[in-house]
Amino acid sequence: MYTPPRFFRCHLTLTGPGRLCILPFVSEPAEPVVSLAGIEKEYGGEKVLRGVSLELAAGELTALVGRSGSGKSTLLHVIGGLDQGYRGRARVLGVDLASLDDRGRARFRNAQVGFVFQAFHLLEHLSCAENVALPSYFEGSTATGDGAPRDPLVRAAEALDRVGIADHARRLPGQLSGGQKQRVAIARALFHRPPLLLADEPTGNLDSETGQKIIALFQALNGDGLTLLIVTHEERVSQATRRVIRLDDGRIVAEAGASA
Ligand SMILES: Nc1ncnc2c1ncn2[C@@H]1O[C@H](COP(=O)(O)OP(=O)(O)OP(=O)(O)O)[C@@H](O)[C@H]1O
Ligand SMILES: [Mg+2]
Repeated sequence: MYTPPRFFRCHLTLTGPGRLCILPFVSEPAEPVVSLAGIEKEYGGEKVLRGVSLELAAGELTALVGRSGSGKSTLLHVIGGLDQGYRGRARVLGVDLASLDDRGRARFRNAQVGFVFQAFHLLEHLSCAENVALPSYFEGSTATGDGAPRDPLVRAAEALDRVGIADHARRLPGQLSGGQKQRVAIARALFHRPPLLLADEPTGNLDSETGQKIIALFQALNGDGLTLLIVTHEERVSQATRRVIRLDDGRIVAEAGASA
């Protein structure tokens, strides 16, 4: 079972005349990466999410499962700031999503959250490196987190290297296999090195062996500290995660392997 990190600190106190004592104490655990409370969502009067509350700690690898229509993609969209028409509180990476306007939400999505979908959504006329660098066109600057401007294509090459296909940077998506296309899509999602990756049926278009390699890639990224929430129908994906959350008719009905 995964236990979120706690940071040990000490404080000094006087326990008597002239006596100084060092007392250790454990600080509060870090704020969850995702914290949802009572999320409700409806489409045209039909309730799709019925009071979903959940927390994901930093470094968790979690599967979200459930039958078709149970609300998995809808919940992912709420967490990723793609949807705003819901009730309840969604706090992600320390940001209350309801406090963001359209522009703030777009910035949040671009910089803080990576998205991976079943269909790879690559632009066919751009090379793999150019597809991966696409998020840089929405950031308004080429500055990285440390303030140093760098060529987006160099950063894209680094992201492609991270997912194991650096040598395909100049190819067009039409020259790649399905598994390689998904790796490019994952590299694009990682372009800004977001702390949170949301994936919706990422192995749905892949054969079993290729899908297995993508799952192994997610596990490796998680090993590097990335927090992942993966929507899946596939048992082998959920078996590879430490935690599984089951949604049915807009409610969490079962959970296994929670960290808290
Ligand atoms: N934009 C929309 N307008 C109206 N209804 C919607 C919309 N998006 C989703 N729904 C409805 O919300 C419910 C949940 O949809 P959602 O896509 O979240 O399910 P899901 O669990 O991801 O299913 P699947 O496994 O098939 O992808 C479904 O009944 C769906 O018809
Ligand atoms: Mg879905």
